[in-house]
Amino acid sequence: MNAKDNLKNANFTLTDNRSGDTYDLPVLSGSVGPDVIDVRRLYAETDCFTYDPGYTSTGSCESKITYIDGEQGVLLYRGYPIDQLAENSDFMEVCYLLLYGELPTGEQKVQFEKGVTYHTMLNEQLNYFFRGFRRDAHPMAVMCGTVGALSAFYHDSLDISDPKHRMVASYRLIAKMPTIAAMAYKFSIGAPFMYPRNNLKYAENFLYMMFSNPCEDYEVNPILSKAMDRILILHADHEQNASTSTVRLAGSSGANPFACISAGIASLWGPAHGGANEAVLNMLEEIEHPKNITKFVEKAKDKDDPFRLMGFGHRVYKNFDPRAKVMHQTCHEVLGELGITNEPLLDIAVELERLALEDDYFVEKKLYPNVDFYSGIIFKAMGIPTSLFTVLFAVARTVGWVAQWNEMVEDPSQKIGRPRQLYTGETTREFVPLGQR
Ligand code: ACO
Repeated sequence: MNAKDNLKNANFTLTDNRSGDTYDLPVLSGSVGPDVIDVRRLYAETDCFTYDPGYTSTGSCESKITYIDGEQGVLLYRGYPIDQLAENSDFMEVCYLLLYGELPTGEQKVQFEKGVTYHTMLNEQLNYFFRGFRRDAHPMAVMCGTVGALSAFYHDSLDISDPKHRMVASYRLIAKMPTIAAMAYKFSIGAPFMYPRNNLKYAENFLYMMFSNPCEDYEVNPILSKAMDRILILHADHEQNASTSTVRLAGSSGANPFACISAGIASLWGPAHGGANEAVLNMLEEIEHPKNITKFVEKAKDKDDPFRLMGFGHRVYKNFDPRAKVMHQTCHEVLGELGITNEPLLDIAVELERLALEDDYFVEKKLYPNVDFYSGIIFKAMGIPTSLFTVLFAVARTVGWVAQWNEMVEDPSQKIGRPRQLYTGETTREFVPLGQR
């Protein structure tokens, strides 16, 4: 089913008060969620554009991958609720689901894992590329550059009109992101790069590359790799958010997949998006003690102060972020496993959550904790440095980006993304020569 087949027997009638003309716009229905008014003919018929900065009321594409009901706090990947996937599935299975639309059979899963795992190593030449960065570079900067550079190495997966090329590029990106993330970390601390171990599961291998060294044996703690796997599932896709829309927009011009994902990473980096997990931890450290929380809550409510409570609020969720609920539970499991019974940052986080949820300002604006609120505490407990938090988000989200990118490339109604504007600048005026200005 696509939107064209799902034209509702209804129109949206628009009356132009300037001319008195009326226009009937078709209304399209998805399988669930709000209908959309199809404005594609609007400009041709009315000589008007729609105006929606921040796209708060705009559906940019048709998609079958992820569904969110922000009022109810629902998140579905291909129809499956996120809490069921987090509880019963694993990240590789979720990758398969997002890419292919169905959960894999046992045999399909084995083949898929084998196919992805085959690509975990980087072209050796990329090691030298890493060495060109400053050691104190932010790992997101390193990741942006390195992922973009993959297009200079993997020429046999750049033909986006070939489904095989697209799938190889997708597998490569999913497989190489943990390797790049761990290398960015090792480089920043001056430690040797660790090659991936293909007998380990995805999350396990990532922790191995992060924390092992060539001199000693290293056993990955299964509770921590399970928690990491769950965090990857929770972040795997989130429909048309800023970074995914960036990937789609970059890809709409026919750009290669590595370049598109690099653009997505750049967008994710911002503190209003994926950068929030790093910002949450910095904020909790700045609060320092539960006694200071009220001061920070008051700052967040002050209209004249740009400070916001990091990890609170979401463009779509006006209820509990369902991922935050799972994350909350995982956080306690990880701290329990590591024997961390007295984590001051967690005490601050719990008290901050309680105060904010009781505060009229946050209640009225429906500002609930989002997925980033607890992920930072888990990462910190695992020994992952703060600057790497958003990098981990990028590792997890890569499958969502490539699934959305593939869907876009295969969509027959796909066009280059080209928004219009409300121009408020100067109208035509005569050029004034330099000497007369
Ligand atoms: N603290 C204090 N006030 C807030 C917060 C917050 N965290 N979030 C929103 N508000 C207020 C705004 O000031 C605004 O108030 P107003 O109506 O009086 O002007 C109102 O709530 C609505 O906020 P907008 O910025 O218009 O909402 P938008 O949907 O554009 O923003 C966003 C959503 C960017 C996530 C915002 O809530 C925010 O900045 N949160 C903190 C950063 C964060 O945690 N980001 C992670 C998002 S989840 C993710 O990307 C994985």
